[in-house]
Amino acid sequence: MPATPTEDAAEAATETATAEDTAIDRGQWGSRFGFIMAAVGSAVGLGNIWRFPFTTAANGGAAFVLLYLAMLVLVGLPGMLAELAIGRKARLNAVGSYREAGEQGDKWQYVGLLGVISAMTVLSYYAVVAGWTVQYFLGSFTGAYFGDPGTYLAGVLEGPAAIAFHMLFMATVAGVIALGVSNGIERVVKVMIPSLIVIALGLAVYAFFLPGAVEGYAFFLTPDFSAYSDPGNFVGIAVDAAGQAAFTLSLGQAAIITYGSYLDPDSDLSVDGLTIAGADTGVAILGGFLVFPLLAAFGNLETAGGPETMFLAIPEGLASLGIVGQSLGVLFFLALALAAFSSAISLLEVPTSYLVDEWGVTRWKASLLLAEFIALVGLLSAMDQDFLTFVDLLAVNVLILGGLFGLSVYAGWFMPDLKDEVDRGSESLQLGSFAKPMLRYVTPVILLGLLVVSLRDFVTQLAGFF
Ligand code: TRP
Repeated sequence: MPATPTEDAAEAATETATAEDTAIDRGQWGSRFGFIMAAVGSAVGLGNIWRFPFTTAANGGAAFVLLYLAMLVLVGLPGMLAELAIGRKARLNAVGSYREAGEQGDKWQYVGLLGVISAMTVLSYYAVVAGWTVQYFLGSFTGAYFGDPGTYLAGVLEGPAAIAFHMLFMATVAGVIALGVSNGIERVVKVMIPSLIVIALGLAVYAFFLPGAVEGYAFFLTPDFSAYSDPGNFVGIAVDAAGQAAFTLSLGQAAIITYGSYLDPDSDLSVDGLTIAGADTGVAILGGFLVFPLLAAFGNLETAGGPETMFLAIPEGLASLGIVGQSLGVLFFLALALAAFSSAISLLEVPTSYLVDEWGVTRWKASLLLAEFIALVGLLSAMDQDFLTFVDLLAVNVLILGGLFGLSVYAGWFMPDLKDEVDRGSESLQLGSFAKPMLRYVTPVILLGLLVVSLRDFVTQLAGFF
């Protein structure tokens, strides 16, 4: 498409402006494959293998999965395209991108700041859960949890071990982020993500041959629509479905904006966005095909439904299998730990790029300072599991849904060039004319409705917590 001279001039102007703003070397992806692995790595995480199964179980199984898939299309894909387009256009951190990509940016930059704060909030407890996965990974080698899974779990969840592994995990994440975008993040994810997918596929094939496979699949795939019959219940499930869709795609906290800001100006957002969302959904479904047969085979399907499911019901089952259980445990918890790690680095990259771009702090200093601070806040979650559950609820159903609502209003109403920004660089498939009307009329309306409900629920829970 031949660009008009004014467009050329405008583009040249924004290019010099951003080049001047970012005199510091911000970094860039080395290859398209590297970017996709990083973004898939961000999306695929504890959300897919830990949070998705227990949220599904708590919401009546397949009836929830259907709503979740609907939310992926109505909220997830438009949000993904918007974040990629905003980041690639502005080529700045969360705050700078909101300031530069659309109209009235001096007000909208606070939505970016909300993203920075909520990414730090999520990482503070995410790293604690990740520490549990590392403990179970190591424990699988020695069969440490085989004698008495319940007691082992109690030692893992809270207290000195939880604190030590949380700290260790944060330190490793900070090390990778300190190394930079292509030297750190990209190098790590190019190995981790393919390994993770191979392990998860292998385990799902194994699970297929278990005696409980059919029962597990049935629970996962047969919708119980009676869960929908009460309208209050239905809205509650919808809130969880939208929250899970946003969480699993890493949306609403400017993580994808930040990763998008390291993209080539003419990368293909439609195909890449679909690939990322598709791969993440694939792994979540794979996670279901893996976890539910295991739970059913071990007779633990009924107890599924809480954050501990993965760390009690699965180990209990593995313990009954002896040496086979030990090897399965090593693989299963390695997959979880890899998934957690590649997501955690994207969470730390959000505040790091903010300090680098906006405050001129060097990357390694920013990442270490932030990691220390976040690790300290995370101590609260490492010492008290109720606090962890509470922060997760606050982060997902309030901060993330709120951030995503802000994102959709901004992209839909304050970025006149949104459609062109999404389509620029895409040839075969252009999703701009899907994203624009969705972000204007559909996504924000759904999110506003859900936010009202989830805020009300949150206040109720808050009162209960204190
Ligand atoms: N998507 C990750 C998961 O499913 C979690 C995550 C990483 C995230 N980065 C994020 C969630 C940014 C929200 C925003 O485990």
